Amino acid sequence: METTFYDAVGGDSFFERLVDEFYDAVERDELLRPMYPEDLTESRRHLTTFLIQYWGGPRTYMEERGHPRLRLRHAPFRITRGARDSWLAAMNSALANGRHSLNDEQFEELSSYFEMAANQMRNV
Ligand code: HEM
Repeated sequence: METTFYDAVGGDSFFERLVDEFYDAVERDELLRPMYPEDLTESRRHLTTFLIQYWGGPRTYMEERGHPRLRLRHAPFRITRGARDSWLAAMNSALANGRHSLNDEQFEELSSYFEMAANQMRNV
């Protein structure tokens, strides 16, 4: 069986840690924080299960939330260039913290994926 990116970076625990650190950064960001619910428990779960599925792990996201349709799910939020920049800054700081557990290729792959995906989510 071929090893997935999910397996290669260490499975669930890598993505759980990344998303925890991402939301810690969101909590400190004045532009992003008000866009998210007061209680971030569900938001953490959604993003974690989504990323696990995207990178080849279990398809729990799909079972709980259905087809991702991420652009559609982001339509209620005003995602300006500034919001994209703040989102990416939060993710990049989370990635930088987890960098020690990634090789250069894995780090590059995740960074460029997030940049591409964040650009797709802009809707203003
Ligand atoms: C570009 C700036 C972005 C902003 C401002 C933004 C903001 C938000 C907000 C406010 C929510 C609702 C809270 C929640 O239910 O979790 C959300 C949900 C979500 N976002 Fe983003 N987002 C951005 C980019 C991205 C990107 C690049 C990804 C994927 C790589 C992503 C993945 C998700 C997922 C999986 C959910 C939960 C969808 C669901 O099942 O309801 N977002 N986002």
